[in-house]
Parts: sequence; structure tokens; C-alpha cells
Amino acid sequence: MSTLITNIAELMTQDREHRVLKNAAVLVEGERIAWLGPAADAPAADESVDAGGRALLPGWVDSHTHLIFAGDRTAEFEARMAGESYSAGGIAVTTGATRSTSDFDLTRLAMGRMAEAVSQGTTYLETKTGYGLDVENEARSARIASTVVDEVTYLGAHLVPDGMDAEEYTELVCGPMLSAVRPFVRWADVFCERGAFDEAQSRRVLQACRDAGLGLRVHGNQLGEGPGVRLAVEFGAASVDHVNYLSAADVEALAASWAGWDGGDSVTGTARGTVATCLPACDLSTRQPLAPGRELLDAGVQLALASNCNPGTSYTSSMAFCVTTAVLQMRLSVHEAVRAATYGGALALGRESGNDVDGERAVGSIAVGHRADLHLLNAPSATHLAYRPGIPLTHAVWRAGVRAR
Ligand code: NIG
Repeated sequence: MSTLITNIAELMTQDREHRVLKNAAVLVEGERIAWLGPAADAPAADESVDAGGRALLPGWVDSHTHLIFAGDRTAEFEARMAGESYSAGGIAVTTGATRSTSDFDLTRLAMGRMAEAVSQGTTYLETKTGYGLDVENEARSARIASTVVDEVTYLGAHLVPDGMDAEEYTELVCGPMLSAVRPFVRWADVFCERGAFDEAQSRRVLQACRDAGLGLRVHGNQLGEGPGVRLAVEFGAASVDHVNYLSAADVEALAASWAGWDGGDSVTGTARGTVATCLPACDLSTRQPLAPGRELLDAGVQLALASNCNPGTSYTSSMAFCVTTAVLQMRLSVHEAVRAATYGGALALGRESGNDVDGERAVGSIAVGHRADLHLLNAPSATHLAYRPGIPLTHAVWRAGVRAR
């Protein structure tokens, strides 16, 4: 089955050449993009969709969420808006609610959140464990997540649960808990922060998870300067997320990790570095300074934007809100912000490249052979995402070639 999407006013490919085409068309065959170019040259197809002069982007790639949870933290949010500051301790409240919720309800809640994200243009999504914090509940969080989202990250090292010694808990995270989640996850993460895991504990977690064959990511430098970015670069993590408080040395280390990269993909390109993932909705909801996205880009760091959807610090799955904020307040151009929310997320998940032969398809950009993850805006250009803040602009969504909205 082939579908031609034609009469596209602006096609923002976010491909290697950063092409933006006017009066364009895209041919989808099955789950893959088969052709793109000027609408006047489009090949025949089984069916045709008139984009009506709208803008087409890659679907959002949300590379940082925490969707496996139950419960509500409205009271904590209200206290924060009244002047309290955020602390990692709130994670324990969600852990209690999550542990006492059935598999059925946890799955239903996660599916609802995933559907909400897709309806807003997200076509590829990562989520983390981290509200189980014991072997049984981390394993079931990972198992449930693996049935709902595209990529699962093990975050047993989110908070030391009440009543446990930090060293003893780190041993558990690196041993029996890791073994229990391993069949369901591709990534591991650690909350390396004051009030969560210190440098030595984070190092042990990263080492054990790397030894188990997992890709790495780090929650780092969210609440203050610290070792998170340094550790992420040292361990060759795919991303370090939050990055609100950076020293000059942190920015240099991130930039140096990309120094030899030729812009190519992980299959044909040179060694890649550590993506800095900015989470602007979280920064606003916790009243932290926005991550220095402009400075990082100018230093040569590859950037991702993600929603960080979770009940504590960022209860939104709106990638459009993140893009709007990145443009209006972090001083990214629209093209840079959309790139960070599509290609950048894919790079943070190691999914920016694929193999057209065996079906390991790239996401986050519109190019022949890539997964047909497409987001049609109800606007003639992507600029409207920032020009019309708060307006729901998603008109249609295709996920792996299937119309999802
Ligand atoms: O990414 N920072 C750590 N983890 C989440 C927040 C978790 C929570 O407070 O429930 C985050 O912001």
C-alpha cells in the first residue's frame, strides 16, 4: 500500500542536508518513506492525501519521559508555585502509589499517556522505570513499559527508598534488580544529584549497567553543578539530561565529545558524542533556570529537547510546548528547536540511522528508507509553532506509515 502526501507548503526534513522544501510531496510505502521531492514530480500511489498547503515535519521523538506511575502530586506542585523548591524526595510519594497499583491499571495509565503524546505529534517515545525502587516493582515497570513505548530505560537509581541504606540499595540496583529488568530494557540511567546518587554510587551503577550491555544515559546537573555531565562523557553515555547548571568545563567536555564527529549516522559516521537533552517544561515547572541550549549549540554540542513527562517535575507530554519555549526563551531558531525535538531525540536514542535492508529504520528525520513518522501541522510553516504559542497545531500524524491521528 502506498500513500502520496502532496500539496505540502513546507517540508522540514531534518535530514543530513537540513533540507526545507517548498511545494513538496512525500511517498509512504508500508512503514517506510519511499520518495520525497517537488510535488510536480511526485510518482503515482495507491492513494493520495492533500496536505492543503500545510507544513510537514518528522514526528516528535520524545527521548526522556517517566510514564510508568500512578498517583498525583498536585499538592507538591501548588507548594512549589507558592515558593517551595523541588527536591528529589517527592519521588517517594509516586513510588508508594505505583507499588500499590495493579499491572492492569499501570498499563492502562501508561497507554493513556502514550496516546496523549501521539495525538500531539509524538511518534517515537522513550520511558523510564524509577517509581518501583524494589526488584519486583522495577521489573514489572520495565515489563509494562516494554509493551507500551518504543524504548525503555532502567532507572532503579532514581532515589534510595525509605528505610534502605544508600550503599546497600546501590548494590541491589547493580545486582539482582539489574538482572530482573534486563530482558525488558535497552538503556540505563542514574539520577546523579544531591539527594539522589553521589558520584561514587553513580559510577558503580553506570559500570554495572554497561557491563550488562545496556546503553547509558544520565540525569545530571539538574539542581546544581555536579559530576553528572563529566561522568556521562567519561562513560560515553548517549545523553545527559537536564543540564541546567553547567560549568565551563562541562560545556567543553560535551563539545569535545562531538569534536571528531562528521555529522554522519552511527552506521557510517565517525564516533559520536553525548547529546545534551534539555527539558524546558521541567525547568519552568520547577522554577529552575532554563538549560543553556543556545550556549551548548554554539559550542558544537548536539542537543535534544524532550518533555520529561512525569508527575513531579513536568506533567506534560507536549513537545510543541518544549519547542515553543526553546524558541521564545532559550533563543533557538525554529529550525534548531524542531531539529532538537526530532533528529536530536533520535540521536539521543541511537535511532538516527537505520538499515533499509533489514528494517531497522531511522526515526527523527524524513529521508528515503526512514520510518514514516510524520507530523502535519495545521499551519503553513513550522514557524507557527512559536508564532502561535499554545495553539494546538497537530493536524495529522503517521506512525510507521499508519495514520495515528
Ligand atoms: O527527570 N529528576 C529526576 N527525575 C524526574 C523527576 C521525578 C519526580 O520528581 O517524580 C525528572 O525531573
